[in-house]
Amino acid sequence: MRKFVIVVSAITIFISVPLIISAADQGGSGAKVAVHVGSSGTTSLPAEVDFERAKSVFQKTCSQCHSLKRPLGKTKVRAGWEKTVDKMSKNNKKRSGKGISSMDREEIVNYLTAKNTFEATCSKCHALSRPLGKTKNRAAWERTIKRMSKNHKAKFGKILPDDVQANIVGYLVENAGK
Ligand code: HEC
Ligand code: HEC
Repeated sequence: MRKFVIVVSAITIFISVPLIISAADQGGSGAKVAVHVGSSGTTSLPAEVDFERAKSVFQKTCSQCHSLKRPLGKTKVRAGWEKTVDKMSKNNKKRSGKGISSMDREEIVNYLTAKNTFEATCSKCHALSRPLGKTKNRAAWERTIKRMSKNHKAKFGKILPDDVQANIVGYLVENAGK
């Protein structure tokens, strides 16, 4: 399948955000998405995420000794997930002699950090079942998140930063996509 790549560069507070979308093929669940996010200094969101790959690395790596509910039921910020994955890497080393590679560690931490960003941001005004009960394609989720960002500004005085929006869209495309 041809790939659908979105590159989002979110830069600092004073620099506008270029959004480059190159779409060879918009179809299908095989769509690959890379989100590049510059450090805004305001969040601990990842620099680059391919959510499809990140989710599959997470599912493969973290279901070997216990159910995925164990990590999915927890809320941690990035530093907390880094510690957990390092601990799990040691657990795995004891079991099979092999730790979790630094590339896989990064993917897993990115995925779980995006999940918690989604949960913390999107539960402020309504239940998470509101977004999770829907299925939408990428373009529709982008529209919804833009609108929610406006709702956020109306209620809390601030829009949602671009890196937050990009991570939430990526997470929802994987978990409530079509
Ligand atoms: C080699 C087996 C093994 C693998 C692979 C593994 N775990 Fe664990 N996990 C454990 C064991 C054993 C415990 C309980 C003892 C502990 O906390 O180390 C645990 C506990 C946990 C806990 C609860 C404790 C805490 O620190 O919050 C979380 C969350 C967790 N694992 C997440 C993960 C994630 C995420 C992955 C994938 C990176 C993963 N696990 C992969 C064995 C494993
Ligand atoms: C500041 C409050 C607020 C926040 C934060 C918020 N929402 Fe909403 N949401 C609303 C309101 C109000 C509505 C109903 C009116 C509307 O659709 O704009 C709504 C409706 C929705 C709907 C149903 C309508 C549709 O378009 O399908 C979805 C899905 C949704 N929100 C998803 C999200 C997601 C995802 C986030 C996190 C980025 C989020 N919301 C954050 C206030 C909020």
